[in-house]
Amino acid sequence: MQDKINRIKKEVSDIKVATQAELEDFRLKYLSKKGSLNGLFDEFKNVANEQKKEVGQRLNELKVLLSNTYERFKGEMESRQTTETGNDLTRSGESIAIGSRHPISIVRNEICDIFARIGFTVAEGPEMEDDWHVFSALNFPPEHPARDMQDTFFIAQQPDILLRTHTSSVQVRVMETTKPPIRMIMPGRVFRNEVISARSHCIFHQVEGLYVAEKVSFADLKQTLMFFAREMFGEKTQIRLRPSFFPFTEPSAEMDVSCTCNGKGCNLCKHTGWLEIMGCGMIDPNVLESNGINSEKHSGFAFGMGIERIAMLRFGTKDIRMYFENDVRFLKQFSAAI
Ligand code: PHE
Repeated sequence: MQDKINRIKKEVSDIKVATQAELEDFRLKYLSKKGSLNGLFDEFKNVANEQKKEVGQRLNELKVLLSNTYERFKGEMESRQTTETGNDLTRSGESIAIGSRHPISIVRNEICDIFARIGFTVAEGPEMEDDWHVFSALNFPPEHPARDMQDTFFIAQQPDILLRTHTSSVQVRVMETTKPPIRMIMPGRVFRNEVISARSHCIFHQVEGLYVAEKVSFADLKQTLMFFAREMFGEKTQIRLRPSFFPFTEPSAEMDVSCTCNGKGCNLCKHTGWLEIMGCGMIDPNVLESNGINSEKHSGFAFGMGIERIAMLRFGTKDIRMYFENDVRFLKQFSAAI
């Protein structure tokens, strides 16, 4: 028994542990239930009584030696891992909070998904634009109020460089580079020189739609928008087109969707039963021609909607400013809506 104890002592003094697996081997060999130490304690029962005191002491010394050695190896390994990598790999990980998508992105993606289902692809254009793409190519007369400094953020004049006031500028860029048939939607950020209030902001987002092909009619426009409204707001949604005016569409309309109060009247729809969500119309032949598209052969429609407006209706938000304040208490509420 003494011999065995001495042999193990000697063995242990020669051992070097370099890996986690070797550390575990050490533990299994000496300290586990079936390890040498337990084996010796089992044998201890057979030691003659007069030797018990002496052997017991040696055995306890071995026990202390083995567990101290094990702890030392373990500590060395941990500090080696820390210094080699600069990180303590044995520490438990800290969970990283995952953010959520911004509600405007959620609604934008939803709008894009709906139109993707009926064959629309996505295009984007620059936020900083020239007069041609925002106004001239879209038939805006020189005296149109949108061209005023009061309404639009100009960056430079002559040539006029400005922050786009609508995504309709991307229609022009698409028509410049794409031959009909064109079926595209164009999401993006737009800028207007407006007083910031609960209902309007100087920055907001729009999604523009453009369809140019042969024999495109107002019925196609109406059917497309009806499909969109029902996908977005539910299958019972009704739409209403009211005559309106935009320089680049003829005829032009504003589209309303039926309010969820079913016409009973509520604060949201101001007791009218209808909510305005977008402008639309048949593209003016002048606009097609000035973008190199033969208006005898092709016709088309366009529409443009404000994403904030749709998000406010969807989420019941009363103040548009909340979308720009980045208050996490507000944003967190949308983490389930991705
Ligand atoms: N650009 C218009 C706006 O910002 C919306 C619109 C787009 C109207 C396309 C008709 C066709 O108000």
